[in-house]
Amino acid sequence: MSTEKDRVVIFDTTLRDGEQSPGATMTHAEKLEIAGLLDEMGVDIIEAGFPIASEGDFNAVSEIARQSKNAVICGLARASIGDIDRCWEAVKHAKQPRIHTFIGTSPLHRAIPNLTQDEMAERIHETVSHARNLCDNIQWSPMDATRTEFDYLVRTIEIAIKAGATTINVPDTVGYTAPRESAELIRRLIAEVPGAGDVVFATHCHNDLGMATANSLAAVEAGARQIECTINGLGERAGNTALEEVVMALRVRGDIMPFTTGIETTKLMHISRRVASVSGFAVQHNKAIVGKNAFAHESGIHQDGMLKNAETFEIMRPEDVGLTETNLVMGKHSGRAALRSKLSDLGYELGDNQLKDVFVRFKELADRKKEVFDDDLLALMREASSDP
Ligand code: KIV
Ligand code: ZN
Repeated sequence: MSTEKDRVVIFDTTLRDGEQSPGATMTHAEKLEIAGLLDEMGVDIIEAGFPIASEGDFNAVSEIARQSKNAVICGLARASIGDIDRCWEAVKHAKQPRIHTFIGTSPLHRAIPNLTQDEMAERIHETVSHARNLCDNIQWSPMDATRTEFDYLVRTIEIAIKAGATTINVPDTVGYTAPRESAELIRRLIAEVPGAGDVVFATHCHNDLGMATANSLAAVEAGARQIECTINGLGERAGNTALEEVVMALRVRGDIMPFTTGIETTKLMHISRRVASVSGFAVQHNKAIVGKNAFAHESGIHQDGMLKNAETFEIMRPEDVGLTETNLVMGKHSGRAALRSKLSDLGYELGDNQLKDVFVRFKELADRKKEVFDDDLLALMREASSDP
């Protein structure tokens, strides 16, 4: 049996689906900065924006296309010739451009333009063929795929492939699916769509039920080879699949999910902080991988375990995501071992009796304060040494 791991392509849509999140608008300069960081981190495809949406979006996508060094630069377009032409005008400057065009295929979405199944099929053929005449790299998405009748989904995907699509994205637009169903859908599409073997299948999950990461990984296990995601899970409503979560899950659990990505994970923390800052969306403290507490420990049992062997309570090394070290937070749950270690870092080597005394003072202080900072400990040591 081969031990070679399959490569999964990381498609980042922080600058398109992420920025669509109400209140997350970024300036032109901020978009260029984030695109540069994504490129440096090894993201394979950057969805840089929706060029028809505004002059600003068009300019940002064009400039990102010009500046990108390694990543494929993708723009979004609805199923309309005008959208696709505008998108191509913006992405064509990239070394590797991609046009991503989509239409809502579920009954609810078909009702909006009021198209019959046949009329929509015709529109897909016409728009994907047009895009393919402009660019070799075409992604097509049946929006709301997870609520589209399976037979119709197969039919539309077959049309898109015949018209020249090279990647088929299967969006869970409203975060409705669950892991087993996500896997089953991808497996059945790959098995039943004629021509499926000639294209890459992608998974694009929203997090309305908190299952975006699980659904994306299940899709990969079933054969998808592109994950669409955003930094910090930024995105409309409850957001998109978080890039840092899928990448680290594949890295940490490569034993059961034998897939690799091209992401330099030590850059994750920095880009997470920059996206939080420019979007104005703070990262929740207990957010997986990049939250302030993701590598922090306060309880005495955990701190003691960590000081003896970090693997006791950590499944990844903080350095792997770009942190310098685990954070032992000093508070009322901390024990003597952590206090001794923290004081030693601050330059105090205490004997057992002295530690006993300082520990009592520390607990009194910790009962009054949520967190005891280094400055508090230094003050406490000054106080302890000046007492008779
Ligand atoms: O969620 C979605 O369906 C989308 C499409 C435009 C791919 O973002
Ligand atoms: Zn989306």
